[in-house]
Amino acid sequence: MSTLAGKIAVISGGTTGIGLATAQRFVTEGAHVFILGRRQAQLDEAVELIGRNVTAIKADAANLDDLDRVAAAVREEKGVVDIIVSNAGFTEQAPVDTLTPAHFDKAFNLMARGPVFLVQKLLPMMTGGGSIILVSSAMHQMGIGGHTAYAATKAALRSYARTWAAEFKDRGIRVNTLSPGVTDTPILDSQSETRENLVKMYQSMVPIGRLAQAEEMASAALFLASGQSSYVTGSDLMADGGIGQV
Ligand SMILES: NC(=O)c1ccc[n+]([C@@H]2O[C@H](COP(=O)([O-])OP(=O)(O)OC[C@H]3O[C@@H](n4cnc5c(N)ncnc54)[C@H](OP(=O)(O)O)[C@@H]3O)[C@@H](O)[C@H]2O)c1
Repeated sequence: MSTLAGKIAVISGGTTGIGLATAQRFVTEGAHVFILGRRQAQLDEAVELIGRNVTAIKADAANLDDLDRVAAAVREEKGVVDIIVSNAGFTEQAPVDTLTPAHFDKAFNLMARGPVFLVQKLLPMMTGGGSIILVSSAMHQMGIGGHTAYAATKAALRSYARTWAAEFKDRGIRVNTLSPGVTDTPILDSQSETRENLVKMYQSMVPIGRLAQAEEMASAALFLASGQSSYVTGSDLMADGGIGQV
C-alpha cells in the first residue's frame, strides 16, 4: 500500500522547487494535495506536472484573508487535513547596516507570521491527528552574513516545532521542521550573487560536495509526513549535506 494513501496534504509554495517536488512525491504515495502559490501560470504548470489528485489555490501565504479562503476551500472540498507543509519562502540578503523595515517585515510576514496562521486556520480540520512540517533552513543554526531576517524567521520555525509538539500532544499531531541545505531550485536565481558563483561557493562548503536536488527534500518531507516517523515530533530534520554540521 502507498505510504500516504487517502491522506490530504496542504502545501504552501507548492508551485516550484521543494514544494512542487514534495507535492509530486506525496501524490505518487497516494495523497491528495492542495498547493498554494501567488502566480496563476506557475500553479497551472504545477497542476499539469503533478497530473492528478491536486487542487491549486491562488493565495499569498503572508495574507491572512487568503489563508481564510484556503481553509474554506479545503473544508469544502475535503473537510479534513492530515498533513501541512508550510514551505512558501524567498531569500533576499541585506546586511544589518542597511536592512530596511520593509525587508524585515516582508521576510517575517511570509516565513514567521504566515506559518502560524496557516496552521491555526487548518488545525480544526486535523481531527484525525497528522503531521505538520515547517520548512526551515540549515541557516537557522548558522551564521552567514546578510541573512539577519531570513535566518531569524527560520529559527522561529524551529521554535514553533518545539512549542506545538507540546501543545498538540493530546491530539496525535506531530510537528517537525525540515531544514534543507542549499538546494538547486529557482530560489537561487533571486539572490545577489550569480547562480554560478553560489553553486561554486556552496559546493566548497558542503561535506557531501554538491547541492541537493528538490527530490531529496521531498524524500525527507515524506519521512516526516508518514508513519515512518511516528515517534518523531518537536525535532529538526537537517537534510543539509552536512553544511550546518561542520
Ligand atoms: N533552495 C534552498 O537552497 C533552500 C535552502 C533552505 C531552505 N529553503 C526553503 O525551502 C522553501 C522552498 O524554497 P525553494 O528553494 O523550493 O524555492 P522556490 O522554488 O523559489 O519556491 C518558493 C515557493 O514559494 C512560493 N511563494 C513565495 N512567496 C509566496 C507567498 N507570499 N505566498 C505563497 N507562496 C509563495 C512560490 O510561489 P509563488 O512565487 O508563485 O507564490 C514557490 O512556490 C523556502 O521556505 C526556503 O526558504 C530552501
